[in-house]
Amino acid sequence: TPRVFSGIKPSGGLTLGNYLGAIKRWCDMQGPAFETVFCVVDLHAITVWQDPADLRAGTREIAAGMLASGIDPTRSVLFNQSQVHEHAELAWIFNCVARVGWMNRMTQFKDKAGSNAEKASLGLYAYPSLMAADILLYHGTHVPVGEDQKQHVELTRDIAAKFNHDYKVDFFPMTEPVIEGPATRVMNLRDGTKKMSKSGESDMERINMLDDADTIAKKFKKARTDPAPLPETLDGLKDRPEARNLVDIFAALSDSTPDKVIAEYSGAGWGQFKPALADLAVDKLAPISTEMRRLLDDPAEIDRILRDGAEKARAIAAPILAKTYEIVGLLR
Ligand code: TYM
Repeated sequence: TPRVFSGIKPSGGLTLGNYLGAIKRWCDMQGPAFETVFCVVDLHAITVWQDPADLRAGTREIAAGMLASGIDPTRSVLFNQSQVHEHAELAWIFNCVARVGWMNRMTQFKDKAGSNAEKASLGLYAYPSLMAADILLYHGTHVPVGEDQKQHVELTRDIAAKFNHDYKVDFFPMTEPVIEGPATRVMNLRDGTKKMSKSGESDMERINMLDDADTIAKKFKKARTDPAPLPETLDGLKDRPEARNLVDIFAALSDSTPDKVIAEYSGAGWGQFKPALADLAVDKLAPISTEMRRLLDDPAEIDRILRDGAEKARAIAAPILAKTYEIVGLLR
């Protein structure tokens, strides 16, 4: 069976972008069609400074968010990356396969390193190589992610292809990015040209999965929009990024499409649409945050689930790493 792999960094709390762009879609992929492996990528988080206590808490929060959203540890493998040392080992092999020029083209590195790339960690630079290792260590064939990860998944294919070519094997599969649905790029609520992220400076620009109902309502109410009402068709949202974003969020939360949302609300003003969106969001997110809080009351239980998951992950990963070492010619 084809195998799904995806991951989330525990660098700050979970956002609505992570939920709609990733976790919600992962839940839908659980079932007979795929084997599903989901990972809290703590080794990726430390490519930028993380306070150790925050990292521990963040890892549990992401795991709790995944569980509360419907990732089922009896149907999926759910674990944190650092408990399966094979990730770091395969990443080293891939550091020797990938080319410096490939890394230089990664837009996420440029965004994160900013104007002073000399001061970025070496880990941040090599980040995509570890991400390729995450996926290929499980021979992952399908990687459901948001739009921002597309370039990294394409690089994973380049690494697999060069490895197979250099060693004259047909060992690593060509991974497909799965970027689908109305919310593959949820935007910042204060600036419709920037994506919603865990680390943006103002809390008003994002919905956190642990926000309470009042906070969610307030953030949508204060979300930036233009003054015009919603148009007759989706075309009318072309140069209205903030409006388009709210329509997309509405569609994703209600398992609908932007076209249907526009059909229902065409002509509506923001005084009507925003409260409807806030109600919908609270309706869908409150049960998740309640369950997250319940889970976070018992950190030992979360740790146990992650440990069990790591054992299952290692059962898949260890033979693939062993075979890789053999192909490369590393003596055992
Ligand atoms: P991360 O932790 O930044 O985000 C986790 C997932 O959430 C998606 N996402 C969004 N989707 C839509 N709109 C947004 N505003 C938004 N913000 C985040 C991301 O696209 C991602 O799917 N490098 C990855 C983690 C990773 C990984 C992997 C993913 C490490 N190894 C292997 C897939 C496979 C990252 O930083 O995601």
